Amino acid sequence: MKPIRTPIYLDNGATSWPKPEPVYAAADAALRAAANPGRGAYRQAVEAQAHLERVRQEACALFNAPAPERVILTFNCTDALSMALKGLIDPDSRVVRGPWEHNSVTRPLDALRKLGADVRIVDPTPDCGIDLDHLRELCRNGIDYVVMSHVSNVTGAVMPLAEIAAIAHEAGGLFIVDAAQSAGSHVIDMKAQGIDVLATAGHKGLMGPMGTGLLILREPLPLRHWREGGTGFRAEMDGQPEEYPWRLEAGTANVPGLAGLAAGMAWVRERGVEAIGAHQSALARQLAEGLQALPGVTYDGPAGGPDSGVVSFRLAAHSPAIAAGILDSGFGIALRSGLHCAPSAHRALGTLPEGTLRASFGAFNAPEDVEALLAALQAIATL
Ligand code: ALA
Repeated sequence: MKPIRTPIYLDNGATSWPKPEPVYAAADAALRAAANPGRGAYRQAVEAQAHLERVRQEACALFNAPAPERVILTFNCTDALSMALKGLIDPDSRVVRGPWEHNSVTRPLDALRKLGADVRIVDPTPDCGIDLDHLRELCRNGIDYVVMSHVSNVTGAVMPLAEIAAIAHEAGGLFIVDAAQSAGSHVIDMKAQGIDVLATAGHKGLMGPMGTGLLILREPLPLRHWREGGTGFRAEMDGQPEEYPWRLEAGTANVPGLAGLAAGMAWVRERGVEAIGAHQSALARQLAEGLQALPGVTYDGPAGGPDSGVVSFRLAAHSPAIAAGILDSGFGIALRSGLHCAPSAHRALGTLPEGTLRASFGAFNAPEDVEALLAALQAIATL
């Protein structure tokens, strides 16, 4: 059954909507079932735990992650990134980050910088990429961590993960990737692409409910745990178990959310990551081309069009916030405006302080949605 669609929803970069039907069904069934996962040997508790293990198995299959126990279930991508950055980076660490990063990376790094960490920023290129020569230069005397988003949530540009990983590894560093905008729509292979630490949301391209995310470690790195408590494992210990995933998973899990996420990831795998990505990129390019033909509209992205579902642009006649309000109230089109929690990216793009309008396409969008947005923009762009 096709989900009911009311607004023309173009904010899948914030959270995907609608979800595939099996996601709603799995979350609903899990919420109606009794029991806390890992806290009992009776049937319902074992079934609740099975949802968590299904997510770990799906993650291994989708990302070529090394082992299910190294898939840590988090509450969102920000949670996963904070866990990784604050769990690994020391006051004497040398860190390089990308210029397009979201606040989920820049804010923890700012807090760590204030404790002494040396945090440098790679230069952007004019075409929304990163200057790999500058990255090499920053890593020349050795590096501890390189932190980078896979796909910018502002421009939709895709970063060359394998090349960045090679530079980081050659300099002795670990490569930490923010895959919030790419998981489910871009091929991610932790081994082939040299990703040491992968953080992502469960509620965007992986199609799960909000309140879900993943942190995946290629090696069992000794991350500091900053949330301690019950795990249902080695309860006799005074201290937090050091074993993964319990090391970082204290407290009752979001079982309905994770049951939905397992169904969402299975749906993504069945449909195919490349097919979903190609669909979203085709819509984004259709929009980018249409925008470039409209008077009073500036497209803010890679010249050849984005290779993802994200498109930023501005209107000369209205601020992004005003334009988003008109598109919503006058045309029933939902898209995000402003800084998208990534002021660093807008600094690189030259779109501070107002930011951009951003359309972000998902698996259920269609070419008619792009046509509707272009028609609405044509009507308001010169008003
Ligand atoms: N980071 C999400 C976005 O880009 C919420 O909209």
